[in-house]
Parts: sequence; C-alpha cells; structure tokens
Amino acid sequence: MGINYYEKERIFKLDTPNTTYMFCLVDKEGFMLHMYYGRRLSDYRTADLTRTRFGEAVPSNHERERCAFNDCMPFEYATHGLGDYRDDAFKVLNPDGFTATSLEYRSHRIYPGKPAIKGMPATFGKENECTTLEIVAQDPVNGLEVTLIYSAFEDVDAITRSVKIRNTGKYSNVKLTKVLSTCVDFEDDDYDTIFLHGSWARERTIDRNRLGHGKHYVSSKRGESSHQEHPFLALLGAGANEDNGEVWGFNFVYSGNFIAQAEKSQFKTVRVMMGINPEDFCWNLRSGEVFEAPEVVMVYSHEGIGRMSRTFHDLYRKHLIRSKYRDAVRPILINNWEATYFDFDTDKLISIAKEASRLGIEMLVMDDGWFGKRNSDDNSLGDWVVNENKLKGGLKYLVDEVNKLGMKFGIWMEPEMISPDSDLYRAHPDWAIHIPGRKGVQSRAQFVLDLSRPEVVDYTYEQVRRILKSANIEYLKWDMNRQITDLGSAGLDSESQGELFHRYVLGVYELQERLVTEFPDLLLENCSGGGARFDPGMLYYGPQIWCSDNADAIARLEIQQGTALMYPLSTMGAHVSDCPNHTVGRTTPFETRGYVALAGTFGYELDVTRIPEADRNMIPAQTKMYHRFSDIVRLGDYYRISSFHDNRMWDAWEVVRKDKTEAILTIVNVFTEANYKSLRVKMKGLDPEKTYRVSVFDIETGEDKEEGSLVLKGDSLMYAGINAPDGIRGDFRARLIHIVEA
Ligand code: DGJ
Repeated sequence: MGINYYEKERIFKLDTPNTTYMFCLVDKEGFMLHMYYGRRLSDYRTADLTRTRFGEAVPSNHERERCAFNDCMPFEYATHGLGDYRDDAFKVLNPDGFTATSLEYRSHRIYPGKPAIKGMPATFGKENECTTLEIVAQDPVNGLEVTLIYSAFEDVDAITRSVKIRNTGKYSNVKLTKVLSTCVDFEDDDYDTIFLHGSWARERTIDRNRLGHGKHYVSSKRGESSHQEHPFLALLGAGANEDNGEVWGFNFVYSGNFIAQAEKSQFKTVRVMMGINPEDFCWNLRSGEVFEAPEVVMVYSHEGIGRMSRTFHDLYRKHLIRSKYRDAVRPILINNWEATYFDFDTDKLISIAKEASRLGIEMLVMDDGWFGKRNSDDNSLGDWVVNENKLKGGLKYLVDEVNKLGMKFGIWMEPEMISPDSDLYRAHPDWAIHIPGRKGVQSRAQFVLDLSRPEVVDYTYEQVRRILKSANIEYLKWDMNRQITDLGSAGLDSESQGELFHRYVLGVYELQERLVTEFPDLLLENCSGGGARFDPGMLYYGPQIWCSDNADAIARLEIQQGTALMYPLSTMGAHVSDCPNHTVGRTTPFETRGYVALAGTFGYELDVTRIPEADRNMIPAQTKMYHRFSDIVRLGDYYRISSFHDNRMWDAWEVVRKDKTEAILTIVNVFTEANYKSLRVKMKGLDPEKTYRVSVFDIETGEDKEEGSLVLKGDSLMYAGINAPDGIRGDFRARLIHIVEA
C-alpha cells in the first residue's frame, strides 16, 4: 500500500514510486504537523523532522509562547487567527462574527482507490492504482468537521490533495471565506519558483525567479483560470534545471478563480498553498451541509523540470482525461475561422472542404458566425438557430455534403454567453450575470450567462443538445470569449452572492458532464479566447484544448513549451495557419508551421483554396507525417532539448516512444547567428544500448531521407549528440528528425 500509519510515532507516510510525503500527529490536541515531501525514503524514522527551533514540537509544552510557537510550526493545513501569521488555508465567518479556525485530529481512514469529488473534475484511479487517506479533524468552536483527503498513485509520482468541510450543527450557518486545497510547509528556503503568466495570444509564458521573502503568488479573479496567470506553481531546489535537481510542481484541477502562492517566512521556511481564490468567495455552509474543495495535484521530481513534466503528462493521460479520444488518433481538421472569419456560406465551406479532402484533411470545423444574424461579434450569442441566409439548405444539408466528401464535420459554439442584442437577452435579461441598477460591462459585446441558476443550465444544455442532434456532428469546439464582471446573480439571495463564482464553474462542469454522458463519441475541444481555460479541470471533460489564438509558429514555441510543462502534447490544440500570421504579422515557412503544429493535435486554420500553390502541395506530405508520427506524439515521453524562451536563438524538443524504439526530434532555428562552429543537438530519453537510424524527414515525399542518414548507438546520440542537419540555416527554418531502432 502506498500509504501507511505508524501508530506508536503517530506518523503518516505516503509513498509513490519515487517520492515520500510524511506528516505526524502531536500533542493531545492532535496537531497535524508536516514533516517531509521529497525523494522516496525507505523508512519513516527520520532525525529531528518534528522539532522546531523551540525544541520538541509539542504545543502544550510551550503555553507561555504559544503564539511564537504556532508561527513557526509546519502545519499540515494552516488555520487562521491563532498565532500562525503566515498566510492560512482555512478561514470562516461564524454567526458570532469570529474568523479564527483551528483543527484537532479525530480519526483517519486508509483505503484503496480514490473517491470522486461531487460535481467536479478530479483525477481517478482504480483500487490497484492508488491509495487514499482521509484525516477527519474538528474545529469544535466553529462546529465544523474538516476532512483532509490525500491520494498517492502507485504508477506515477503524484499525490493529490483536497478538502471537505461539514457543518456539524453547532451553528445553523457558518460562512466559509477561504478553503484552499493544499498547504505544504518546506523546511528550507533556497528555492526558485516557476509561475506562468501571459495575456491573450501569449498564454503560459514561463517565469522563473528566485524566491525572496514574503508572499509570491499568481491568481485569477476573472471567473476562469485565465490567459493572464495559471493555476500552476513549481518550486525548484538550488540549481535545478531541465534534467537535474529537485522540483515540486503543483497544479489545480479547477477552471475558475484560483490562487497559487509561495511564502518565505521570517524563519526561512516556505509555505506553498493553492486553492480557490478567497477574493469574492463566501460560501454559506448550513447545518449538515458539506463543501468540497477542488483537487490539487502535486508532483515531485529529483530529475529536474523534464521529469516533472513527464509525470504530469502520464498522470493526466492515464488518470484525468476520460474521453475515448484520449489515446486515439484525432482526425486532421481544417477550421474556417482564420480562413473566412464571419464571411462564409455553404458554398464557401464546401469549396474549402473539397480542396481539403483532396489533400488528406479529414474534418471540416465550422467556426463562429453560423447562427442568429451573426455577421460580426456584435450579436446573437444565445440564439442558437441556424442562419439559413448563410447556410442555404440548413445545417444538415451542409454536414451531409461534407460527409459525402469523406470528411467528418465539427461545429463551434459559445454556450455560456448571451449577447445584449439577442432574442434570448430580450426574453431573459436577468439570465445575464449582472448587478441590478448598474450598467453591465460588456466585453466583445457580450455578457455571461448566469450558470449558477439551474434553469439557465437546463436551457443552455438543451440548445447544445438540439444542435448536436440535428446533423452528424462529430466534434464540438466549446468556446468562452470573455471573463466575468458585474458579480451578481438574480438567482441568489443577498447572503449568497459570494457563492456566484464557484457556482458558475459548477454550472459549466454540469453542462459538460451532461454533454460527455449523452454524446460519448463526440470529440470535444475546449477553448476560451484561445487558451484562457487550458487547465486540468477542462481536460476531465474534453481531451484537447485550443492552446492560443496565436498560431504563429515562432510565438507557439514559447506558448507550447509553457503548456507542455504539465499538459501532454495530445491535449494541445495546434494548427498550421495563414501567413503573414494574423496575430503577429510574421511569415514563416509552411514546413516549420507543420512541425510546430505536429507537437499538438495538428490541423489547419486557413483558406486552403487561396494559399500559395507550393504550400498547398506540401499538405499531403504533412498529413502523411501526422499519421506516421502521431502515435509517438500522443503517447510518448516529451523531452525539451533547447529552449528559444531561454536562449533567444533556437528551440528543440523530442518525443520518444515509451519502449524507446522510436523518436522524433524537431529543431527550429529561430534567429540565425553568424559564425558559429556547429549546432550540436544532444538527444534524450533513448536507450544507450540500442542502435538507431537517424534520418531527416523529407517534407516533399513524407518519407525519411536516405541521404545523410546515420546509424549510431543511443549513448552516442545522447552524450555526444549530432550536428543540426543542413537546410536549417535561415531564420524560422526547421527540420524534423526521425530516430528509429536499426
Ligand atoms: C476565439 C477562439 O479562440 C477562436 O479560435 C475563434 O473560435 C473565435 N473565438 C470565434 O469567435
């Protein structure tokens, strides 16, 4: 079993293949103190891990200075207002007006498997794949029972944490004002942090910094995980890099407001916390009710950032994504957004589909603009009625025609939104999230539907369902193009307005749960103005998410690197798009755009009838490339070789089959430097004993080039490396190298 309790010493030890997490119970009050999280220990007996600078960690021996004592104790779940002045994980407002919390251990339970979290996404595992520990503690003064839930996986180095709170009835209502999902106190202070920051079209940029004193955090108060900051935080031990050193990664399985924080204290210890952002959060917990907080995934690696990423990838592929497409090859799609924007009709779409199918593309996705009177983004969200002026003959006719070409059909919807200029808004203005008496703040000329209201969820689901049932639609792009303002719900009383943000997210989850239950064969791609809701929560429902509205191959190097820090390549929506790129105006070779999109789901986002002939002629070889290498990309191990984000010169990554018999390596020369000896590329993840043939992929034929291919041992390829192939000189040029056991 991956979790054990040592009764005499009152120590809990959680083990995964390479990690150990330990905490203990002390004193008659049942304080829960964190002891250790790091490389796996063979024994629970360790020197001095429960001592503080005051000596033995027994609070009752330190009554005179209990405050100072509490302020340096490594608490397993930090409470509020009783002497621990570091930031807390748990705070309330009780009917007497008091906010303090404290926890006393009462009981625990260890069992195989892992419980689901009601109405929310979470990782899952069978009884032989993980073990769960539930610690039940009491806050008697507030009449609350707090359950700390830990699961340790047997096959991946991941531990999950979540929290459940029950009102035991002392008060008829206790307001929860802060319930974070994890809190880990580290004994050292010599760390760097990685946070991800960004903006629209610039999502998940890696930001590594030395951790100084005080609180350092990223958060969202936008109602979604957001373009701007990401529910992720990594702590890196001194000198840790891609392949070496200790790294602790934390990722929140949630799609709404979050906080991810590292705080270095006066005593040179570090507290990491993650959970729902307490700002604008206030949950009424009435007698007998239970509040369940979402889950945090914690991954430790003693082999640098790369190992952390591969562990997250394995965990999410095996224990988070449920879709039947998780491991399956996805159809190569062509999306008409950048091809036509709102200016399309049936004939235009069929002309794109005809040309695309001839070139090997397998699915047409009709994006925004097919419903209501929508010819711009000014109106019609909520009116999910086909615009027959554009789609002459209706949706089914179009889908049937596309199917006749041997192509699948996919559709775009933005179900969570309502345009002020829509029949839906005219009928139900109060269905928008709004504050009575205040002029609503529009964004992209739209408001957000109040999904905290069951009747709005029901109505919204019915619209999506009706469209999906009306024709042979095999893919849905579920978009969400604005963030939440005007926090007010006509469905909640004045006591409960602080529940709106979380209830909104629960509404989104309910919609998507209904969708994947009723349409298990649907390929669902989530999207939010690009990648503003690329988070583990959404991956529980759909196996892929549109990474960014910026599909420029060079900008994507950084966006995809940041995304691949924890998300598998199989989840990253990536397309070959038009040039000059619509977002940044850059022109890159069509070949390079193909290699960069291959590191994701792969597809096209351009008017295939209008691109240059030479580019169009490359598509058959690119589609062949996708089918040759998609298995490796989706299922293999990802290694970062060189990062343009760091060196501002070149980028390279490799994906290796799990059995190490085959790999692909992509090299992108971003900015050519003059007069260097050679660009040496050292591969990773191969078997040092195996012999491999190394060939450059030929974009003309879709085959490997025989000329110049090498046969070398894995150790030589990894430790001595190879020179970057000819043809890479020149800005934005790229090559794909195929490595296969000889
Ligand atoms: C934002 C998405 O990211 C785009 O791909 C496109 O679907 C537009 N919305 C449509 O409004």
